[in-house]
Amino acid sequence: MNHYHEYLLKDLSGDRETLIELLSTRDAELRDAIFTKAVNLRNLHAGNKIYFRGLIEYSNKCSKDCHYCGIRACNPTIERYELNEAEVIEAAQFAWKNRLGSVVIQSGERSDKTFVKKISSLLEAIRFTTYGELKVTLSCGEQSEETFREWYEAGADRYLLRIETSNVGLFEQLHPTDGKHLFKTRLRALESLKRVGYQTGTGVMIGIPGQTTEMLANDLIFFRNFNVDMVGMGPYLETSDSVMNDVANTFRPAERLELSLRMIALLRILMKDINIAASTALQAIEPSARLAALNCGANVLMPNITPLQYRESYQLYNNKPGLTMDAEDNLRYWEEQLLQTGCSPAWDEHGDPMHYQHRTKKSNDQKILI
Ligand code: 5AD
Repeated sequence: MNHYHEYLLKDLSGDRETLIELLSTRDAELRDAIFTKAVNLRNLHAGNKIYFRGLIEYSNKCSKDCHYCGIRACNPTIERYELNEAEVIEAAQFAWKNRLGSVVIQSGERSDKTFVKKISSLLEAIRFTTYGELKVTLSCGEQSEETFREWYEAGADRYLLRIETSNVGLFEQLHPTDGKHLFKTRLRALESLKRVGYQTGTGVMIGIPGQTTEMLANDLIFFRNFNVDMVGMGPYLETSDSVMNDVANTFRPAERLELSLRMIALLRILMKDINIAASTALQAIEPSARLAALNCGANVLMPNITPLQYRESYQLYNNKPGLTMDAEDNLRYWEEQLLQTGCSPAWDEHGDPMHYQHRTKKSNDQKILI
């Protein structure tokens, strides 16, 4: 059994078939039962509060060429940008003053020294200007363990790095075969994040051409066996001028949306105390879909607080919502939307996943016993 298969096959008796059935069922009552169970479990184990993270899209400069992604290096049609320090600090101040508790710095992937140092200094500046009160999640792609450690020590304590799909063959179809886009590197990076001590998040795209419900069931099992703290996943969406557009779609947008909601609910049932995001991509298919995700088990929302003039240039996929709503309006909009969920916003809370606390407490207890 190879290293990767261990994650898929551990403790698996019978689950995969059930998950496939639940992802595909046409029984409306069963579907509702899944969603209700997921919400009840969330309320019980993760709380009925929604955590806000202010999303700062730091830069669309990227060294990678993922076929599905609008900011891939080979896309000549977008204007490349990088926020300056004052713009990042202003966005962080907005989040802090509006009691969001934490921000996510997301960026195209670069691993050159200038970029690595820049992120470190931004982390230090945010810590300094918010008296250490604002937590920072990074989503800046695959890096060496050394870089992950440097950023952790500079103040980041969560990291999101999607595996995109746990199916190696499908992963290879989504990426160039240039040796720079390897599944095993992605997996190792995720392992590094955990070793360094991050609250570790991953995720997948749902409804990719060629993906099957069996692969999606495996993704859920992968999350559980990898023991992730956080998951952000959403529908696959077309992006302009991509080679992916030459491949026939397997799922219609409405099917991708439905599968995404079921994936969220089933993951909540499998992993009761993790953080699950209601991802932006959901809203690209249906305006109310992020709300629907909160109504079937998600507990994290990431309102975009990137300065408006850069939003156009950070379109990972077509139809990206929120290009014109500024941070203030966006936040008020979500506050109002939450009234429809029976959940309240968790103002001023860092929103650490309970799962992380449980998993690290357990290993500390074990250390004490040894
Ligand atoms: N459709 C859906 N999600 C996408 N992402 C990138 N491109 C697309 C797309 N076309 C997601 C990837 C990536 C995250 C930052 O955005 O999962 O990890």
